[in-house]
Amino acid sequence: MKIIGLNGSPRKSQSRTGQLVQEILNSAGAAGAETEYLNITDLKLDFCIACGKCHHIGYCILKDDFEPLMEKIIAADGLVVGSPVYIYQITAQLKVWVDRLGGPTIHCQKLLGKYGAVVSTSGGAGENETAQYLEATLINTGMQCVGRIASGIELDGLLPLDSPLMQNAQELGLSLVRAIEHKQEFPEQTQVHHQFREFFRYVISQQQEAWNWEYKYWQEKGWL
Ligand SMILES: Cc1cc2nc3c(=O)[nH]c(=O)nc-3n(C[C@H](O)[C@H](O)[C@H](O)COP(=O)(O)O)c2cc1C
Repeated sequence: MKIIGLNGSPRKSQSRTGQLVQEILNSAGAAGAETEYLNITDLKLDFCIACGKCHHIGYCILKDDFEPLMEKIIAADGLVVGSPVYIYQITAQLKVWVDRLGGPTIHCQKLLGKYGAVVSTSGGAGENETAQYLEATLINTGMQCVGRIASGIELDGLLPLDSPLMQNAQELGLSLVRAIEHKQEFPEQTQVHHQFREFFRYVISQQQEAWNWEYKYWQEKGWL
């Protein structure tokens, strides 16, 4: 079992979001998962240029770290994504990655069957909306989300390991491992996946030429 953690804060080792993401991974690791922690600012990710080629060829033409990152995520069973709140939203750095999911990853539900968890921290406002946005993003890729940590953190520096927030992170790590092990179903999220497929069945069927790779993927999956 492999679980990737992706932190969208530019504060690297100082990041409180990152500390929580890492604690989720530590707990998952203690329960037997192999884990890998990544900082978004260590990756070269350029803006989506809306060329639309990914729909036709199945991958992004930009030569940066996006495709290698997605290969890692696709090879894994779980993904933890964290972001600090920057003016009621995820960070711009993380949004670059999210926008790039708008091609085959979302259209073809490439992360179907995987499990996720999200973390958002703020100075006191916007953490729930930001966590909800991250969850909705992961669910849109086909994943199911086992839970979230959304916290308006006041303290600077390292959080004590026995603080309630760190305990929540430890529990979330365990929930993630259990969900992966037992292929847990979250019926409301499965319903969202069904609704997505209903809507996109029409969209994809209208785009056989322009979105040829995605059209073929849907055909092979028997979704058309
Ligand atoms: C550019 C910027 C925008 C921010 N916007 C908000 C905000 O809208 N609401 C809020 O409560 N905190 C805001 N904050 C504070 C961060 O969300 C908060 O300090 C967070 O815990 C930092 O996480 P990190 O340590 O993982 O980077 C902002 C911080 C920065 C640098």
